[in-house]
Amino acid sequence: MSADLAVDLRHADTADYDAIIELVDVWWGGRQMTDMLPRLFFTHFRPTSFIAEVDGAIAGFLAGFISQTDPDVGYVHFIGVDPTMRGRGLGETLYGAFFDAARSRGCRVVRAVTSPVNRTSIAFHQQIGFRVLPGNAESEGVAYTTDYDGPGRPCVRFEYDLKNRKQGD
Ligand SMILES: CC(C)(COP(=O)(O)OP(=O)(O)OC[C@H]1O[C@@H](n2cnc3c(N)ncnc32)[C@H](O)[C@@H]1OP(=O)(O)O)[C@@H](O)C(=O)NCCC(=O)NCCS
Repeated sequence: MSADLAVDLRHADTADYDAIIELVDVWWGGRQMTDMLPRLFFTHFRPTSFIAEVDGAIAGFLAGFISQTDPDVGYVHFIGVDPTMRGRGLGETLYGAFFDAARSRGCRVVRAVTSPVNRTSIAFHQQIGFRVLPGNAESEGVAYTTDYDGPGRPCVRFEYDLKNRKQGD
């Protein structure tokens, strides 16, 4: 995290949704992402979803939850940082909050997926310690799974091991 950046980290709230949904397509470089982020993530996953504010403005958010199927697993559905605030540690800080929340609820690993075209997301996840899980295809040396989220929607699958992480790291 940049030493000059004063970040307020708090849980997301259903009222944050209206502001965030306006930002999502812009923050994702014009990709149509809003359909993948319904309000329910801010309403029903508040304890494991976070907002980062800088100077009172939303600078980043993370929408995540604990798997209902496997309580060992935390899952991050969306993470986004204001393009003007990138590269200053906000993404890693948001993940840190989720890692702590997941670990304190007994999770062993955290998983996430991203599109193989999202090279920034792939580099970011690898840089903060995620490994790429096996797939059935490969792009630029990164394994991905074809049609993972439906026809024509491939995904790179990531996993982060919480066991070596100290709370608050
Ligand atoms: C991915 C994203 C959340 C990263 O946020 P960020 O605040 O810029 O990331 P950080 O500053 O915390 O970076 C953490 C590490 O990842 C690395 N990283 C971040 N972006 C990178 C990039 N484009 N290429 C290579 N490394 C990158 C940083 O260098 C840093 O590593 P370091 O600590 O060794 O220096 C941000 O780029 C974003 O919002 N992208 C659009 C939305 C998106 O694609 N979300 C992910 C899929 S849901």
